Amino acid sequence: MRLPYPSAHDVALILAPMAGVSEAPFRQVCRAAGADVVISEFLSSEAIRRRIRATLEGAEFEEHERPIGIQIYGADPDAMAEASALVTEHYEPEFIDINFGCPVKKVVQRNGGSGCLREPELVAKIIRAVIGATHLPVTVKTRSGWNEESRDPVSIALRMQDAGARAFTLHARTRTQMFGGRASWDEIARVVEALDIPVIGNGDVQHAEDVVRMRAHTGCAGVMVGRGAFGNPWIFRDAQALLAGEVLPPTPDAAERFRVALEHARLALRLQGDTRKTVMEFRKHLGWYTKGLHGASDLRQRLFQVESIAEAESIFVSYLQPLEQVA
Ligand SMILES: Cc1cc2nc3c(=O)[nH]c(=O)nc-3n(C[C@H](O)[C@H](O)[C@H](O)COP(=O)(O)O)c2cc1C
Repeated sequence: MRLPYPSAHDVALILAPMAGVSEAPFRQVCRAAGADVVISEFLSSEAIRRRIRATLEGAEFEEHERPIGIQIYGADPDAMAEASALVTEHYEPEFIDINFGCPVKKVVQRNGGSGCLREPELVAKIIRAVIGATHLPVTVKTRSGWNEESRDPVSIALRMQDAGARAFTLHARTRTQMFGGRASWDEIARVVEALDIPVIGNGDVQHAEDVVRMRAHTGCAGVMVGRGAFGNPWIFRDAQALLAGEVLPPTPDAAERFRVALEHARLALRLQGDTRKTVMEFRKHLGWYTKGLHGASDLRQRLFQVESIAEAESIFVSYLQPLEQVA
């Protein structure tokens, strides 16, 4: 079975769903940089069902983001089915992804996200309910288990495949690990071995070379990149180059980083509103784009205080001035 979307090479590069990060502006930047496919941040099925505006806005995307998956979560199969039907009808993404991996307390307390991992019957019921309410392919994303004792990604994956999932993404950590320790790529390899549906590996892909390493280590059909893309959409460009057998393109210099940061910021203002809130929430991206630059920590401190994108732009200009004089 193949992934329900095309890819440039024989392994698909996927931008991870990340709340507060994988919103439309960043998805567009990553697609332009070379991500084959993107996924929305997770959206509550209950909130979709109740037509909560802020949640529905999270399901909106522009045509050039395609192929795109909308991710939903929740522990009530009826609400999940309703959300699945509404997302299909109003937004028509390429696929619907179910989140069974979120470790956040507020979510798992109601058995949402990775909370479902404690109830295997419920997991199957949710997947079937979502599939029954859409003509779109339904994929799933989960962790390796609830905790070390119950860690069993192969059984989890087989159960999800049996319930009808079209692709399986494993973030190879348990819920109790949150984001600590290392993701087990061995587990991803074991799941690839056990399943007939495509498996997407996720966890600790920090550099383009890691994409190639994960692929070689696990045989996965797709590699999902999360935190490694923070301020670094070039990870997709670089990984595509490596997969094509080409040498790595030059590392983006400060001017290129700032150019893309500002392009990203303008997209945010256009798509999320030219408001103070948009600027506040964008500050983290500004900081991430400076990672590794000379004087980054001072630069980051100043960027974390900007009240407008124009202010960020003038900080960038003054940073580049002495460099331009040297050149
Ligand atoms: C800020 C943040 C928000 C996240 N939000 C989501 C989410 O909405 N849905 C989801 O399935 N995973 C979410 N994740 C988990 C990531 O998709 C991914 O599984 C995890 O970060 C491991 O991959 P990485 O090591 O490449 O970052 C989030 C992670 C981070 C850091």
